[in-house]
Amino acid sequence: MNINFHVFIDNLVSTIEAKDLYTAGHSTRVADLAFIIAEHMNYNKEFCEKIHIAGHLHDIGKIGIPDGILLKSGKLTKSEFEVIKDHPLIGFEILKNNPSLKDVPLIIKHHHEKFDGTGYPDQLKSDDIPIGSRIIAVADSFDAMVTRRTYKSAITFESAIEELLTESHKQFDKNIVDNFLDVIKDREKLSNIKNIFSLS
Ligand SMILES: [Fe+2]
Ligand SMILES: [Fe+2]
Repeated sequence: MNINFHVFIDNLVSTIEAKDLYTAGHSTRVADLAFIIAEHMNYNKEFCEKIHIAGHLHDIGKIGIPDGILLKSGKLTKSEFEVIKDHPLIGFEILKNNPSLKDVPLIIKHHHEKFDGTGYPDQLKSDDIPIGSRIIAVADSFDAMVTRRTYKSAITFESAIEELLTESHKQFDKNIVDNFLDVIKDREKLSNIKNIFSLS
């Protein structure tokens, strides 16, 4: 039996997206944008491929979050948010024993760390955060901003870019944000990205 690994990863992610309609498509968009940024940063093919897979799987741990919290339509309470914050660790636990994923589980574990050390689960700072997690963090937040959520309206492409810049060195690695800004100077790549996010 020859299972196409990438297709299987997609199937796995569909299990969580079948439950959570609001994040349906989120993982694919994050995977595609993170891949474009990594490629632009001149990482080799193997690394970019790994980032793509980590992007697909980054929120897989949400499968372990109770529906009442995951699917809540209003703003989360403080204690509900604490439960949501378990998803990077749950994802790490689900995938950690698969040697062919290499450090993908670790990238997933740290995708909500912030550059200034105020993120979770380990409050890692700057270069201590795996580079893959830092790239996914930028793509993840960008998608959250331009995609309409239950309790927040989407913001425009331009405002999302500005927000990424404002948060550089606080939430994000400025070098990655700068690379993103550099990517969108290329007309073809900009239109690719707008297509991924269904923006005009
Ligand atoms: Fe997440
Ligand atoms: Fe996410």
